[in-house]
Amino acid sequence: MSPRFAAFVQRIAHEAGGDPWALHWDARNARARGEDVIVLSVGDPDLNTPPAVIEAAVAAMRGGDTHYTESAGRPKLRAAVAALHTQRTGQAARAENAIVLGGCQNGLFVSSMLLAGPGDEVIALDPMYATYPATIRASGATLVSVEAPAANGFHPDLAALEAAITPRTRAIFLATPNNPTGVVFSEADVDGIAALARRHGLWVVSDEVYAGIAEGGRVPSLALRLPSQVLTLGSLSKTHAMTGWRAGWIVGPEDFIAHAEQLALNMLYGLPGFVQEAAQKALEIASEAETTVRAYCGLRRERLYRALDGLPGVRAVWPDAGMFMLLDVRATGLSAGEFVRGLYQAERVSLLDGAAFGRATDGFVRACFAAEEVELDEAARRIRRYAASLGAR
Ligand SMILES: Cc1ncc(COP(=O)(O)O)c(C=O)c1O
Repeated sequence: MSPRFAAFVQRIAHEAGGDPWALHWDARNARARGEDVIVLSVGDPDLNTPPAVIEAAVAAMRGGDTHYTESAGRPKLRAAVAALHTQRTGQAARAENAIVLGGCQNGLFVSSMLLAGPGDEVIALDPMYATYPATIRASGATLVSVEAPAANGFHPDLAALEAAITPRTRAIFLATPNNPTGVVFSEADVDGIAALARRHGLWVVSDEVYAGIAEGGRVPSLALRLPSQVLTLGSLSKTHAMTGWRAGWIVGPEDFIAHAEQLALNMLYGLPGFVQEAAQKALEIASEAETTVRAYCGLRRERLYRALDGLPGVRAVWPDAGMFMLLDVRATGLSAGEFVRGLYQAERVSLLDGAAFGRATDGFVRACFAAEEVELDEAARRIRRYAASLGAR
């Protein structure tokens, strides 16, 4: 008799319909083999980590900073994270309100495990970042997705949100700026969500991994409105081109952070010291790094948007912030999946099917514009050619 896996593996499995990232991995492998493929299917800026950050890591490693560290992160780094949070949101925070984890993704997972469990429901606003379903279901809770509909500019539909709340609901997960839409939730949006969370006694997990790229480096803050019930998640991945360093955090109430530390102790055992020293340097130069990435993304957003303007059957949707742009391909008569597969076959450009993010982005595909300008221009030319070929068919 073969040994069995835990029921848990089902909770983290891909949903029926297959892995929406399969085409992306194909494209990445083809490119690694030297093929003429343009990969715009993932949000990994084509920028290098700031040299001062790399130097800080190297110096720490050379200095012997290669041992175990505190599970919640070094106090000075936690204090620096809290200070950044205060600067971004206006909410007072100190080191005890912050825990340093392996990226925002790790923070999402920790939040999920600590806030809900079997028999509970967790609401996530759809479209949602592609890891949310498995991350939320991992706890045993039921995922309830509530659309922020395209017809509402992908802003939350507060009435639908309230209607989805039941006595079993424990938390609402959302991302602002959003991936894939690039929408920043407005003051009115966050007022409404905070009011619902307060009234129904819910946690809000606010994934603000792109906040540093939003205008002014901040977004309307849920934490400021409801400090005792909101977790604010962030990382250095996007603002500092540090996706591979796996340095992120949660800022929240002290009792939550104490539980998170206990989970981190048993799951992670502390981020490497040299990564923490690099993160410390990254936070010291945050304003400069964010300005660089913001300018980089701003320029390319404009460039791709203009290059795709007026395409037959394809409408680019202007994002408030971030590094992604949705293309509405419904008028081509193809599904988004057919569109991305056809485009990849004909033109070797890899975009992501909006279905990877839920129902609200049915008929939309996502392009990442954090790429070299020449590559972006070439991708736009190919998309244009492909869209024209569909019209001609
Ligand atoms: C909305 C959102 N949350 C979290 C993550 C993961 O970020 P990190 O690299 O900090 O784990 C991403 C990465 O693309 C994202 O888009």
